[in-house]
Amino acid sequence: MIVITGATGNVGRALAAQLTAVEAPVRALTRDPLRARLPTGAEAARFDPAAEPADLAPLFDGASALFLHAAAVGEHGDAVLAAAREGGVRHVVMLSSGIIAKGADETNPIYVMHADLEERVRRSGLAPTFLRPNAFATNSFQWAEQIRAGDTVRGPFAGALTAPIHEADIAAVAARALLDDGHRGLAHRLTGPAAVSTEEQIHAIGQALGRDLQFVEVPPEDVTADMFPHVPAGMLPAILAAFAATVGVAPEITSTVETVTGTPARTFTEWAGDHADDFRA
Ligand SMILES: NC(=O)c1ccc[n+]([C@@H]2O[C@H](COP(=O)([O-])OP(=O)(O)OC[C@H]3O[C@@H](n4cnc5c(N)ncnc54)[C@H](OP(=O)(O)O)[C@@H]3O)[C@@H](O)[C@H]2O)c1
Repeated sequence: MIVITGATGNVGRALAAQLTAVEAPVRALTRDPLRARLPTGAEAARFDPAAEPADLAPLFDGASALFLHAAAVGEHGDAVLAAAREGGVRHVVMLSSGIIAKGADETNPIYVMHADLEERVRRSGLAPTFLRPNAFATNSFQWAEQIRAGDTVRGPFAGALTAPIHEADIAAVAARALLDDGHRGLAHRLTGPAAVSTEEQIHAIGQALGRDLQFVEVPPEDVTADMFPHVPAGMLPAILAAFAATVGVAPEITSTVETVTGTPARTFTEWAGDHADDFRA
């Protein structure tokens, strides 16, 4: 049994779908099993990181591996890891972040959050695999409301360069790490296949929709929280500082997705095609 935390999220949902497709037993943790719309074959179990944890043992009954999502376990990382170990889990694949790298600003809250949970995993006695992706293609959902409302998208840093990674590729690496031998003790740095600027991402989404979208750059001081709805308010300054540093700078690009899965990482154009409906009114 593989227990997935964050199972209704971008990566967790794709992972649950990929694992159930090969009939791997999956227990999907969610705050609301009734609304989770999980893939057929996945067992839903309730876990709310904001609530006082009740008895966690049933979540790990018969489990052998854990997919760990930081926000989905919140303050309960140690309790979840201990219950997992007690229940028979021996391997944990953690969705960490590419921010964990040599020379990183170790005071950045995003660094702190992921480094802290990585350390808890290392201390848990479970064999770890760390997935360290850089920017997700799903970050572009931040523009969905503006795109539904019209053809102009306002935001900062038109020239910010990332190599956005498709959530299905992160999930595919996670699935291999969970199902195959040989990933224990490894950290996989994950990116999409090519650098794409913010403005190019908007144009690619426009192409997928058959519309001509324009990106209008606003100065960072005019950025409002609604432009970054997926970012917790306290982390917005750190995110903006990180973006500012990527303008015109070639991003890290790794071939890890292809090495691990045997299939090249999906392009941003493919991602926009897969998600065109998410940007339609
Ligand atoms: N975005 C990036 O560019 C990036 C880059 C590197 C690493 N990451 C890592 O990847 C994570 C995002 O993964 P994702 O996109 O798959 O996640 P997501 O779509 O945000 O989903 C996370 C799931 O966790 C559950 N959850 C429980 N408590 C939550 C809380 N307080 N906040 C958010 N979700 C909560 C929710 O499920 P229920 O409602 O069903 O409980 C939600 O569906 C980041 O948090 C970070 O750790 C992201």
